[in-house]
Amino acid sequence: MKILIPGGAGFIGSVLSTSLVKKGYNVTVVDNLMFEKNSLDHLKHNRKFNFINSDVNSFKNIKKEVNKADVIIPLAALVGAPFCDKNRNLAKKTNLSFIKNLVKSISKDQMLIFPNTNSGYGVGEKGTYCDEKSPLRPVSLYGRLKVSAENEVMEHSNSVAFRLATVFGISYRMRLDLLVNDFVYRALRDRYIVLFEKNFRRNFIHIKDVAETFIYAIENQKKIVGDVYNLGLSSANLTKYQLCNKIKKHIKDLKIILSNIAKDPDKRDYVVSNKKLEKTGWRAKYSLDYGIKELISYLKDKNFRPGNY
Ligand SMILES: NC(=O)c1ccc[n+]([C@@H]2O[C@H](COP(=O)([O-])OP(=O)(O)OC[C@H]3O[C@@H](n4cnc5c(N)ncnc54)[C@H](O)[C@@H]3O)[C@@H](O)[C@H]2O)c1
Repeated sequence: MKILIPGGAGFIGSVLSTSLVKKGYNVTVVDNLMFEKNSLDHLKHNRKFNFINSDVNSFKNIKKEVNKADVIIPLAALVGAPFCDKNRNLAKKTNLSFIKNLVKSISKDQMLIFPNTNSGYGVGEKGTYCDEKSPLRPVSLYGRLKVSAENEVMEHSNSVAFRLATVFGISYRMRLDLLVNDFVYRALRDRYIVLFEKNFRRNFIHIKDVAETFIYAIENQKKIVGDVYNLGLSSANLTKYQLCNKIKKHIKDLKIILSNIAKDPDKRDYVVSNKKLEKTGWRAKYSLDYGIKELISYLKDKNFRPGNY
């Protein structure tokens, strides 16, 4: 089976591509390497792996690869609200126009697996369980583009969309801007975390669970295709304060300093139900404690300087 991953050199993509190649899939990544240039170097001599350095917005350059693929997992995007706000036109092209072009050009036999963010649930849903029927009301350009892209993707009958919780864990293209990764990094570096809006809840998911879920979708295509699923760790619907205390269990001298110094711009405070995906037989495997321990040992190994990532 041939898998095409636009944006496959990124945080999620480099872990996913590695897992897929290990499982024997033929993987082609198209990426313009905006960040880490070497995140797929470990695969470059593998005959199951093919890398194309190209911009997905030059759609004609990748059309041949699109035509050949059985499954397409479009990860290429400008990720996060601040990045999209700084590059609005490019964000609109990459996060939405590219997806429209993709949906238009594929046949019904080709499967699409799309990663959305669940952050839009958080707006106005304080403390309530959000399921796939809860309204997504994104406030940022990033969130709005992802919701529109999900709508486009679901027009194609052979599609699955996952609404991801905040991802944590280590990758060949490391990101320290994600909440768990960021807090563990600060805890190690400073031995304190200044915490505002401590009771705001979030849902989290380990990066290896994300990769394994995409593979689960490929391998259980008939069972789950044509639908949208929340993808998060049900044991990790936690307040930011609870998250800090979990980290403190592993870094005993960590001080948690409560403050009103700032406010969350997107007012995210929500708990997410992952029951719909669990009902299909899927289970997350990696706990938050596992991820925190793994991050600590990774960051210590790298001598935790930002330049090292
Ligand atoms: N990380 C999360 O917590 C999270 C949560 C929800 C959804 N997602 C979605 O998952 C996907 C991957 O996110 P990530 O965390 O791996 O981000 P990332 O920034 O690490 O990866 C994005 C990749 O896309 C590539 N890219 C961007 N524009 C491109 C273009 N025009 N042509 C070719 N390549 C291009 C970048 O070089 C990068 O390798 C995104 O679609 C994101 O919206 C991520």
